[in-house]
Amino acid sequence: MSEWDCEPDVLTYNVMIKLCARVGRKELIVFVVERIIEKGVKVCMTTMHSLVAAYVGFGDLRTAERIVQAMREKRRDLCKVLRECNGQDLKEKEEVEEEEDAFEDDEGLVYTPRDEVIEEGSEDVFKKLLPNSVNPSDEPPLLPKAFAPDSRIYTTLMKGYMKNGRVADTARMLEAMRRQDDKNSHPDEVTYTTVVSAFVKAGLMDRARQVLAEMARMGVPANRITYNVLLKGYCKQLQIDKAEDLLREMAEDAGIEPDVVSYNIIIDGCILIDDSAGALSFFNEMRTRGIAPTKISYTTLMKAFAMSGQPKLANRVFDEMMRDPRVKVDLIAWNMLVEGYCRLGLIEDAKRVVSRMKENGFHPNVATYGSLANGVSLARKPGEALLLWKEIKERCVVKKREESEGDSSTPMLKPDEGLLDMLADICVRAAFFKKALEIIACMEENGIPPNKTKFKKIYVEMHSRMFTSKHASQARVERRMERKRAAEAFKFWLGLPNSYYGSEWKLGPRED
Ligand SMILES: *[C@@H]1O[C@H](CO)[C@@H](O)[C@H](O)[C@H]1NC(C)=O
Repeated sequence: MSEWDCEPDVLTYNVMIKLCARVGRKELIVFVVERIIEKGVKVCMTTMHSLVAAYVGFGDLRTAERIVQAMREKRRDLCKVLRECNGQDLKEKEEVEEEEDAFEDDEGLVYTPRDEVIEEGSEDVFKKLLPNSVNPSDEPPLLPKAFAPDSRIYTTLMKGYMKNGRVADTARMLEAMRRQDDKNSHPDEVTYTTVVSAFVKAGLMDRARQVLAEMARMGVPANRITYNVLLKGYCKQLQIDKAEDLLREMAEDAGIEPDVVSYNIIIDGCILIDDSAGALSFFNEMRTRGIAPTKISYTTLMKAFAMSGQPKLANRVFDEMMRDPRVKVDLIAWNMLVEGYCRLGLIEDAKRVVSRMKENGFHPNVATYGSLANGVSLARKPGEALLLWKEIKERCVVKKREESEGDSSTPMLKPDEGLLDMLADICVRAAFFKKALEIIACMEENGIPPNKTKFKKIYVEMHSRMFTSKHASQARVERRMERKRAAEAFKFWLGLPNSYYGSEWKLGPRED
């Protein structure tokens, strides 16, 4: 900026505080403030707010509190306070590391550092941006003047309490703000909404409603966000009737028209109580009121139908979504459609949807395959599981460079536990032991421990009497031998008595 004759101002530095917060460089924040002071730039109230917000974002409420306290005491030595907090952090970090070292000796565990986001090369950037952080001055500079905290700063600290579930502190803070002489630090609608959120989060809906009533009494009108927070709270507690009453009340009593978010919340609430008819009626009501559904509205309604075993209705919502020029159908919507059919074991319909989604340029992901695997299991069509596994397997292997170039559009797939466990389950039940072992190997490669207890139980219950029939053609006998070998290999893996006892096993034909 200086090269372009453009000197950074206080806004530039406020942004830099946010930057340090985003990349998790708590220790640098004090140096931004010191730099502002040293450059003779005027610190403003937003700087102070960004500071408190940054520490709240780090979850370091202790330092956030100390900043607010220092402001209340009209102190100008904020940089000294922040440096002390850095020093304390450093000391605690060392203590934690010592403890972890001791732990490592005991258990042989490797300590993985917390995921601090330090981008490559960012070190140099900060050295350049904040040269004072490399060689800090001996004495931290003083603020040119003291700043008294205002509602915004108190509310930000309060949000920290709320997010950490500290309901009592949130309420106490509201009380303290109300008693302030300074009008600038009286609670506003954001403050009250934060308190409402804290009570909602703790499941204390009655207390949350009391705050809403108090807002009206104090002449601080609630806004749509306040109401949406409350709506969500009722839905979470499955009190959809109360949510509906509140939806009416917000429009009639408070004159706040519900928006698409309010409706999405209540439609989602209907799903929680298995009320797909209710979900549809709120969806229609929303449209009657001239509120355009969003992608979330459509997929939520689809979910209502998919979960309640009405895939055809989900499909109709999907078609409507396709026709709506305001929204774009995404993978979530396609997956919801697949899930709807799979829940009923309608594999053929689900497969048709998957082909269509591929034609539309969407690649199935773990969720799609998970739905399909469940559907295959429900439909008792283990043959389908083999086809599914073949497709998944191809997408799991890291392709060599040359190979992938022609086919780079298909993204790699990282299968999850639910999917692989379901596939292995189907294969073990269907006595596809060779495939089962392949899937189990894939689980192990992905660091997913297969549940041996479960597979042993299935094997013993379903297959321990296999291969005992005496009457069969030659071809069948050979096929059976092949499968028996796979079964023996599988039993070996389970730790059940098997023909390989004590020797190495492989899946190829045996020499003897
Ligand atoms: C493994 O399966 C058994 C039997 O189905 C079950 O009781 C157990 O909870 C499962 N263990 C894990 C870790 O999932």
